[in-house]
Amino acid sequence: MSLSNSIPALPASFRLVAGRLELDPRDPGFFENPYPTYAALNEAGGIARWDLVDGWAIARHNLVASILRDRRFGRIVAESPEGRPDFSGKPDHLRAFYGLEAHSLLELEPPTHTRLRSLLTKAFVARRIERLAPKIEALADELIDGFVDRETADLIADFAVPLPVRVIADLIGVPASSADNLLDWSHRMVAMYTPGRTRESEDAANDASLEFAGFLRDLIAAKRRSPADDLISALIAAEDEAGKLDGDEMISLLVLLLNAGHEATVHQIGNGVKAILESGEAPASLFRDDRTSEATVEETLRFDPPLHLFERYALEAVDLPGGVTLARGDKVALLLAAANRDAAAYAEPDRFMPERFLDRAAKTVTSFGGGIHFCIGAPLARLELRIALERLFARCPGLALAGEPRYRDSWHFHGLERLEVAPGAVCRL
Ligand code: HEM
Repeated sequence: MSLSNSIPALPASFRLVAGRLELDPRDPGFFENPYPTYAALNEAGGIARWDLVDGWAIARHNLVASILRDRRFGRIVAESPEGRPDFSGKPDHLRAFYGLEAHSLLELEPPTHTRLRSLLTKAFVARRIERLAPKIEALADELIDGFVDRETADLIADFAVPLPVRVIADLIGVPASSADNLLDWSHRMVAMYTPGRTRESEDAANDASLEFAGFLRDLIAAKRRSPADDLISALIAAEDEAGKLDGDEMISLLVLLLNAGHEATVHQIGNGVKAILESGEAPASLFRDDRTSEATVEETLRFDPPLHLFERYALEAVDLPGGVTLARGDKVALLLAAANRDAAAYAEPDRFMPERFLDRAAKTVTSFGGGIHFCIGAPLARLELRIALERLFARCPGLALAGEPRYRDSWHFHGLERLEVAPGAVCRL
């Protein structure tokens, strides 16, 4: 049976027949609102062969969550005992980009992943994150001051973009004056993971990798000479206790932190504000106290997260429900945002309902992944989201949309192009 006609608002490119999925991620009917497609997938059992990704799309919450933690799956099928990826076949013009990727936590498996991740955990302690709260608050207010009396504002450009980059730069120990460079390098590098890559965008990503690495090499050398109270210096100190990082490893860790540390958070701030504005819920009750604020942030992360796809490879033969048997090397495409809308995990999954997270037994969202690659920045992201949303709605309690929000053509980095609001009449100076 084809489901393409039975559920409203499915994208034109969508077909799901006999467990095989056809879907174009660049179909605006999909990337503008992927949730009807996810619902259709889940209704049909939550597993489907998707030739476009050369693997199996997985949408069920219990399956996505368990595969993320299952050591029979890995980010890579490492042939080396160190758990390193083999990028030797990559073209020459991408040498600098893959030079950084080769040491990226996201591309590594144990034992190298364990060694680098534990070094980072030593530097990335809760105390260092919590201490940032007053700075994030001041920054959010400064940005709100910038548009508060304007007739219209674009909350992506005016609020969501500048906040996370300045927070992560401050945490790591990069001067605020470099924020624009960081954004530029990061955008050029992240373009490598989006559809429609061209030779030009590959060259731009490679140049950005070279420039970014050079910038960090100089900065690390300066911090070695005169340490400060920042994450680069803490990493250098942790290195002395727990074995050396080679220069490239330290640079890759910092590039990942700087890129991961703001790209997803930018989108989540935008998606979260949109979800709240469209829900019709009164901000004063959503942010009544610590418990409701935390529940609201969690619901924004469930309802419309920024990262929709992470892949894993089977490291041995694995049986999945629905009679699917994977062989070593087979790929699964974990649809994190589909799992968050699975009716088997969340009642009324398509309703924005923060109170579901007041219940301690609520299922954990899949938005930050799980298992050994679980997002190391999740506590920082939650803190930034909470402060950003609290300050925005405290200053602008009657905020309303001033135009139809549109998502970017970049499905698995799911975020808005623009988010226009009319602050003038409803915000407090
Ligand atoms: C709303 C914001 C964020 C979201 C939704 C998010 C999501 C994720 C997800 C899904 C993964 C796991 C990937 C996998 O399992 O393959 C991940 C990994 C990671 N994230 Fe985040 N992230 C966010 C913010 C941040 C921030 C603020 C930082 C840094 C300060 C950060 C740093 C990292 C790092 C370093 C990893 C790799 C961990 C590893 O492979 O061991 N993320 N993130």
